[in-house]
Amino acid sequence: MAAGAVPGRTAPDGSPYPDRAGPTFERDVRRMFGHIAERYDWFDHVASVGNDFLWRPRALGQLDRFRRGAPPPARILDLGCGTGDLARQLARRYPAASIVAADFTAPMLKNALARNRRAPEGRRIGLARATAMRLPFADGSFDLVTNAFVARNLRDLPAAFHEVRRVLRPGGGFLTLEITEPLSPAFAALFHAYFDRVVPALGAAVASAGPYRYLPESLRSLPPRAALAAMIGAAGFPRVVTRTQSMGIVTTFLAEAGATPARSA
Ligand SMILES: C[S@@+](CC[C@H](N)C(=O)[O-])C[C@H]1O[C@@H](n2cnc3c(N)ncnc32)[C@H](O)[C@@H]1O
Repeated sequence: MAAGAVPGRTAPDGSPYPDRAGPTFERDVRRMFGHIAERYDWFDHVASVGNDFLWRPRALGQLDRFRRGAPPPARILDLGCGTGDLARQLARRYPAASIVAADFTAPMLKNALARNRRAPEGRRIGLARATAMRLPFADGSFDLVTNAFVARNLRDLPAAFHEVRRVLRPGGGFLTLEITEPLSPAFAALFHAYFDRVVPALGAAVASAGPYRYLPESLRSLPPRAALAAMIGAAGFPRVVTRTQSMGIVTTFLAEAGATPARSA
């Protein structure tokens, strides 16, 4: 650590454990994803009991229905791409599109690059190291921006949504896929028993403690579904709809960019 730098919070086993209220939250989120990059996909499949294989393609199906009648997107940005799974699905779905997959964690991008090289569609994906809070792209550069399981890690959601709106052309599409509160209270109790207790215990046993303690905390920090949809709308997206999957465990937020970007909050 550089002299004078504020140390981030760590779990008892020394692993990064980001504290949303702390001054180094963003840096700690990046350190945490760097720490778990190698095991990320594997643990994602275990923690979601394999459901993550279904959630991303279903979300893209929901997007196609939302954008029915619109031409296929030609320029796509996948934000917080992680190991690049959603970007590769986008490349298969829209074979003529040029795709950029961006993330602010270098080890995630390294992992994405290795996987892209092994997949024919992966060779059409450009990688960029960038933070969602300040995208290195010109206004109106994209027809579609997507992100999966990123929103709950962002320090300032309204600012991030304004930034997405800035890089979209008017009429462009925006897809956010995120873990959300289940729709039924009975199922929510079961879900929280698993997500708040089993996942952190499993994470600590097979990987490291901090990231998997942070995971349920990050979910609690996310605004409720309707408030999140309203936040997206306020960033310059007059049309926003939500579509749930798996009894509301995940929600796809689908939005269409308005004619002019909204003023930054
Ligand atoms: C839970 S992972 C999701 C990865 C991938 N989208 C998926 O569906 O598996 C969250 C990703 O978002 C990235 N991320 C978090 N905050 C970010 C930010 N402010 N800017 C860019 N990337 C960010 C992390 O580095 C990590 O790769």
